[in-house]
Amino acid sequence: MTNRESEVDPARPFVQRCIEPDCGSSYGIDERCYICSRCGGLLDIERTVEVLHDASSLRAMWRGRMSSPDSRDRSGVWRFRELLPFAESTSVVSLGEGNTPLYEAARSAGYCRLDSLKLKHQGNNPTGSFKDTGMTVAVTQASVLGERLVACASTGNTAASLAAYAARAGILCAIMVPAGQLSHAKLAQALDYGAKVLEIEGNFDACMRVIRELADETSVYLVNSINPFRIEGQKTVAVELAEQLDWQMPDHLVVPGGNLGNSSAFGKGFRELLAMRLIDRLPQITVVQAIGAAPFARLYQEHEQDSRETDSELNIVNEAHPHTLASAIKIGAPVSWKKAWRAVRETAGRVLAVDEQEIADAKAMIGRDGIGCEPASATTVAGIRRLVAAGVIKSDEDVVAVLTGHLLKDTDYVIKYHNQTLTTSWGSEAENERLIVGHFSNPRLRVSASREALSAVLERLQEEHGGP
Ligand code: F0G
Repeated sequence: MTNRESEVDPARPFVQRCIEPDCGSSYGIDERCYICSRCGGLLDIERTVEVLHDASSLRAMWRGRMSSPDSRDRSGVWRFRELLPFAESTSVVSLGEGNTPLYEAARSAGYCRLDSLKLKHQGNNPTGSFKDTGMTVAVTQASVLGERLVACASTGNTAASLAAYAARAGILCAIMVPAGQLSHAKLAQALDYGAKVLEIEGNFDACMRVIRELADETSVYLVNSINPFRIEGQKTVAVELAEQLDWQMPDHLVVPGGNLGNSSAFGKGFRELLAMRLIDRLPQITVVQAIGAAPFARLYQEHEQDSRETDSELNIVNEAHPHTLASAIKIGAPVSWKKAWRAVRETAGRVLAVDEQEIADAKAMIGRDGIGCEPASATTVAGIRRLVAAGVIKSDEDVVAVLTGHLLKDTDYVIKYHNQTLTTSWGSEAENERLIVGHFSNPRLRVSASREALSAVLERLQEEHGGP
C-alpha cells in the first residue's frame, strides 16, 4: 500500500490498485498511470467505500432512469454511474452507448445443438462495436485530466471508437494501426471522425509496443484496454445484461478473446455484482480465440489443472506471428491476459480456440438469424458448438454469447464467403493458402432483364424454400 490512499477525494472514493497479490500498491484516481510503477502489474479501479444503496434500491433507481431525459440516463453505461469512478457532477463524453439488444437466436442455437441461445449484440453501439462502452469512460477521464492528445493501437474498432469520442470531446486523436490490415469500414470511420491515422509497418502487437513505450515518456494519453478506465466502462455491459435477464445469471457467458480487455471487464462486472448481492452466482466465462492467434488458449491448455496458488507464477508465451481472417483479434501478445485469467479462474470458465472454417460458418449462421456480426464475434458460436459437442456445455443450459462487432465492419469477408472465394493466406507461402468452404453460402443469381426469366427464377426459389 502506498500513502496515497489518504488522498482519496470523498466525492470520488476510488483508487487504482495493482492486481498483483504480492504488491497491491495503490495510486490516486487521477494519477496518470497504466501499470504499477512498483512491479509492472496491471491496475484495477477499486471503490474505497461501499455503494450507499442496497441491491433493490439500485435496481429500482437504474430502471427508473430508463424513462429519464437526462443524457447520462440515455446511455447504457452512465445509467449505472454508481459503479463508475467519477463524481456525480462530472460532465461526461457520451454518444448514447450501450442499451444493446439481447436476442434469442433459434438457428444459431440449433447449429450449436442447444435448446436456446441468447446473443448480446454489442455491435449495436454508436460506432458498431463494444469498444464504445469503454471509450465513453476513458475519454471522460481524459477530459477530466485535461489531456490534449489521446492515442491507441488498434486492429480497427478501438480506433473507430476513440476517433468518435475524441471528436465529441474536442481532443486531438492519433491512432496506430497495422499498415494495410484494417478493414475499409473501420478505416473510413476513423478518417471521417477526424483522427490522425498512423499506419505502422508491423502488426497490432508492434503498434501496441511502440505506443506503450511512447506513453511512458510523453504527454500522450493511452486509451487501449490496459487503461483501467476502459475496463470500468466495459464492465457495465455485465450489469445491463444482468438487468435484461432479471438478475438471473446464465450458466455460461462466451466472449471472443484478442487483447483480453473484454473478458477482463465481464469478470470484474460480475464480481462486483455478486459482492453487492445484485446477482447470486457467477456465469462461467468462456473465452474463444482464433486458432492462429491463440496464446491465451494455449496458456489455458497447459495450466488449467494447476492449483490456483501457482497463478502468480504463470507467464503467457506470446505468438510471434499471429494470423487469422478475423482481423479484429489478430493479436499475439494480449496485454490484459492476467485479468482475463483471473476472470476465467474465478468463474470456473475456460478458454479454447476455433479454426477459420468454424468461424466463417458460425458467422453465416448468425446472419441467418437476421442478426449478423463481424468475424471475430462469431468465434463465440463456433466455440459453443464445439463445447456442446464435447459435452462441456449441456444442451439445456443457459448460454449467452457476446457479439462484439457489427456485420458491416468487414463486408469484404462476407462477400468472399458467399462467393466461395474466401481464402486463408498467411504471409507469402502458397502452402498456407486454403479455401474456406462456404457451407452456408448464399450466392448471387444473374437474371436477364425479362419478365419471364425473373418469374421463372422466383418460382424456382419458392419451390426450393418450401412452406412459409
Ligand atoms: N471482437 C472485436 C470485434 C474486436 O474488435 C476485438 C478487439 C475483440 C473482439 C477482442 O476483444 O481485445 O477485448 O479481447 N479489438 C481491438 C481493436 C484489439 O483494436 O479494435 P479484446
